[in-house]
Amino acid sequence: MLGLKLPTDPRWVNIVEKNIEEILTDHAYCEQKATSTAISLIVSFPEYTDLVKEMTALVKEEISHFKMVHDKILERGWVLGRDRKDDYVIALLKFFPKGGSRTTQLVHRLLYAALIEARSCERFRLLSEELEDQELAEFYRKLMVSEANHYTMFLGFARQYGNRKEVDQKWQELLEYEAEIMKDLSKKETIHG
Ligand SMILES: [Fe+2]
Ligand SMILES: [Fe+2]
Repeated sequence: MLGLKLPTDPRWVNIVEKNIEEILTDHAYCEQKATSTAISLIVSFPEYTDLVKEMTALVKEEISHFKMVHDKILERGWVLGRDRKDDYVIALLKFFPKGGSRTTQLVHRLLYAALIEARSCERFRLLSEELEDQELAEFYRKLMVSEANHYTMFLGFARQYGNRKEVDQKWQELLEYEAEIMKDLSKKETIHG
């Protein structure tokens, strides 16, 4: 599914279930970061009209996801806490070298976004299947579908704007690299932890 090389250990859900407040807090910031990423792509690459159009729509969708998660937090009588450090994203960024042509930078940012969407989607699917809390399981099932579409869109743009063969090779290398990162994760009650 989604090309990911290492599936999440289902026992990660047991860790999550013990601390729903923590997962929802982390998740809210994932949606905020997805919104920020879409805005920053518009600012950095304004001449890519198709991308700007899609990112404009994505900003709205991701901030609506943020609202959905925030509402869940409030419904349960909690208040949104501070942002959590995302070790996964920090490790992932190390894969991409600094510099390169403008197109290379764009492709890297699109592949990075595609992968985060893919892994989030995989985690949401697991939550939708394994959570005992049925209301939350249904919530994650709906979000899973959205994130799968985002993954396809980002990968599609990378292939459209970059050299198809080089992009596909880079994507495979990134998937291998991500699988290595994941070996040390799945131990925390965060979306990518
Ligand atoms: Fe989202
Ligand atoms: Fe997304």
